[in-house]
Amino acid sequence: MSTYKLAVIGGDGIGPDVTQAALEGVEAAALRFGFTVQTTDFDLGAEHYLRTGSVLEADTSAAIKDHDAILLGAVGDPRVAPGILERGLIVALRVAFSQAVNIRPVRLYPGVESPVRGVTPENCDLVVIRENTESLYTGGGSHFHAGGPNAVAIQNSVSTAAATFDAVEFGFQLARLRRGRLTLCHKTNILVHAGRLWEDVVTRVAEEYPDVEHDYVHADAMCQHLPLDPGRFDVVVTDNLFGDIISDLGATVQGGLGVAAGANYNPKGSAPSMFEPVHGSAPDIAGKGWANPAAAALSAALCLAGLGERAAAVTLEAAVASVLAELPALAGPGMGSDTLTLGHRIAERVSSIEVPHSAEA
Ligand code: NAD
Ligand code: IPM
Ligand code: MN
Repeated sequence: MSTYKLAVIGGDGIGPDVTQAALEGVEAAALRFGFTVQTTDFDLGAEHYLRTGSVLEADTSAAIKDHDAILLGAVGDPRVAPGILERGLIVALRVAFSQAVNIRPVRLYPGVESPVRGVTPENCDLVVIRENTESLYTGGGSHFHAGGPNAVAIQNSVSTAAATFDAVEFGFQLARLRRGRLTLCHKTNILVHAGRLWEDVVTRVAEEYPDVEHDYVHADAMCQHLPLDPGRFDVVVTDNLFGDIISDLGATVQGGLGVAAGANYNPKGSAPSMFEPVHGSAPDIAGKGWANPAAAALSAALCLAGLGERAAAVTLEAAVASVLAELPALAGPGMGSDTLTLGHRIAERVSSIEVPHSAEA
């Protein structure tokens, strides 16, 4: 029987609850499909930082690395200045563990209503592939020159062909397995240097994938096309900051942040990949039980797929989809159940639902 070591970072706000709910689904899948999951909890986030003055110690990072995968809820807390936890934990882990590929599916599940008119499960099934370690997130050489009305802020952006290649190559591989279409999303009309690097990498990789069509859309125009015509897209590859923004837009199209899953993937397998929902710690609803755990549970399904447990992954996804279809609302008190109760329901469904045919594909 396979055993997987899973590092669990619940984090802040709604993070611990949605992660616990997702883990119940994973444990039910392990029981049904005959593998074992050994979890290690890492108490990181705002409380840890406020208590110790440190976000992520080197030995903790090394301990996390010694796992097969990481499940993360969310971090961010109104008591901590913006950026300290986000950069110090999430971005730090993405970079340290070479998770250059961020996979964010935008899929409308049957029975879930999109807030955008005309969006259906048939025309809303795309994947945003976001380069996950560079662009404006690198922060190298950035500087704030204080000076009141004369203050100047410098935020540098770095893109390398190596990390861009990882994201683009993954995008083409995925497009080949899907509908054979890839769209580069950037802002080449203004960010001419980074834009050129991305275009060069796409052109080079495309030669290896003659079966995949590719085109280009500017990031601003994407904000119109994605909600109005999601069916136009199959795989969208984009840089870190544009990917951050358009994946929240994609989340809205698919029913909200409570439904949007993500994976921070290390394509070389040199360190564990990390699975986390697109949403944050949602301080506005923390502690109320109003968070939808679907996004975290679907991220956990991506984790099972990443571990090679395909039948478990598609069954967990199907269980989440079937529970989602029953919810009167996708977030807030109108969901009719609190976060942890929905976790129990997802786990029960994992045990009882028919294993989807795609498990054998
Ligand atoms: P957010 O994603 O936390 O919340 C945006 C809105 O979506 C809020 O109204 C929230 O209530 C709602 N929402 C989010 N997740 C939901 C869920 N599962 N179910 C129902 N509703 C949900 O974004 P924000 O408010 O901009 O950021 C809050 C904090 O989270 C900040 O500190 C931010 O830096 C951090 N953040 C962390 C991550 C992460 O850990 N991966 C991601 C995004 C934001
Ligand atoms: C996300 C978040 C993160 C990002 C933050 C918390 C660092 O918004 O995962 O989408 O900007 O990548
Ligand atoms: Mn984001």
